[in-house]
Amino acid sequence: MKFPYSEKVLEHFRNPHNVGKIENPDGKGLEGSPACGDMVAVYIKVNPETKILEDIKFESYGCASNIATASVITDLARGKTLDEAKKITWKQASEELGGLPPIKAHCSVLAVEGLRAAIKDYEEKHGLVTEKEPTTE
Ligand code: FES
Ligand code: FES
Repeated sequence: MKFPYSEKVLEHFRNPHNVGKIENPDGKGLEGSPACGDMVAVYIKVNPETKILEDIKFESYGCASNIATASVITDLARGKTLDEAKKITWKQASEELGGLPPIKAHCSVLAVEGLRAAIKDYEEKHGLVTEKEPTTE
């Protein structure tokens, strides 16, 4: 059987970017997968005026696909606005990584969901979620 991971995936897996935790983050996302029981947490710092992601870190308890995707999407998201970062997809990450094994696609999706959950957390705390009642703070 051919080894399923590209060299680029292994590189990010062995040496992931943006690993860690941000104390007092502006937003935090925690997503778990019922399929494997793995989890990923994403922490963000947001500039209140420009809504640009000034810092982003993640902790993953998942597999190589999950870790490599989180590494790539946190790189992509840093310096972007929340709206831009929301549009980052696992397909983009997969392309960046030279492809992921199809059986591992949901591990990659899990990392993207973690990023989106962190953004949503920020938006909820700041009354930016339009489908919900705006908060008065
Ligand atoms: Fe669980 Fe990939 S096997 S995150
Ligand atoms: Fe758990 Fe892929 S097997 S997210």
